[in-house]
Amino acid sequence: MTRTPVTQHESPRPTGRYAGKVAVVTGAGSGIGRAITEGLLTEGATVVANDVAPDALAALGEWATRVGSAERLTGVVADVAVPETAATLVEAATAAGHGRLDALFNHAGVGSATPALEIGEEEWSRVMAINVDAVRRLAVAAGRVMVDQGGGAILNTASVAGTHGLPGRLGYVASKHAVVGITRALAVEWGPLGVRVNAICPGLTETGMSQKLKRTNPEYWAAREAVVPLRRSGLPEEQAAMALFLNSDDAAYVSGLVAEVDGGAHALYSGYTVTRPQT
Ligand SMILES: NC(=O)c1ccc[n+]([C@@H]2O[C@H](COP(=O)([O-])OP(=O)(O)OC[C@H]3O[C@@H](n4cnc5c(N)ncnc54)[C@H](O)[C@@H]3O)[C@@H](O)[C@H]2O)c1
Repeated sequence: MTRTPVTQHESPRPTGRYAGKVAVVTGAGSGIGRAITEGLLTEGATVVANDVAPDALAALGEWATRVGSAERLTGVVADVAVPETAATLVEAATAAGHGRLDALFNHAGVGSATPALEIGEEEWSRVMAINVDAVRRLAVAAGRVMVDQGGGAILNTASVAGTHGLPGRLGYVASKHAVVGITRALAVEWGPLGVRVNAICPGLTETGMSQKLKRTNPEYWAAREAVVPLRRSGLPEEQAAMALFLNSDDAAYVSGLVAEVDGGAHALYSGYTVTRPQT
């Protein structure tokens, strides 16, 4: 096999899908958001990483320093439910990107496992403020920049609770259905303006949000894994892989997609989760 020699004066070209791009990630400090941020930095992006937890962002910063990409990372500690946070994040991104913002990962979200007969106004409002209002507000703030520059991509993190009913989780299910609705509404409104909008719907994934459940209720966890066709829960990197694909140019013709990343669980009709006796 012959190899083309690389001459010394040739400078290495960044080859990552996100080389030269500017991205915003919310909920970047742990779990799937951290995996997305690590992937973005590894693939060459300049990243504005938001989280409400300062320690989690500090740990992300230490990682970035270790791998030599700290100069492309800006951490912003803020609660996405505070209305001003959207403008703060978009301004930080356009400052870092000389006016550009190429990709938004609207990822921060909270769970709510309170049955419908028990959920109070305060919990309902908090879930909607983080999972719905903040997602809409940041998508619009980022979308304004993307429309002006003639293109961009937005990825919203929904859930399997965005496409299915789960018992005992009214607030979570309603909020994630709204995330799917925001995704489809913006995809059709902004498609003609060059902005793509997609969503991932993670199934059971091993992150901080779900680890507590695994610890406190291992039987429930095992039962959930047992009905996943791939017979296991997912990893943050496996969710990040789909998110990074959808916001990259590899997905240039993909918009309005609501992608269930759940080991095949959505494909199974629940009536068949009870094994049929063999005769
Ligand atoms: N892990 C799963 O099984 C699973 C399944 C479906 C959907 N999701 C979705 O994934 C997203 C995050 O989950 P994860 O699994 O990465 O969880 P995680 O708990 O590991 O990470 C969530 C991060 O978001 C941050 N955060 C929470 N509220 C915030 C706020 N108001 N402002 C800014 N940051 C905030 C947290 O500090 C944390 O670092 C959520 O939207 C969740 O609904 C997760």
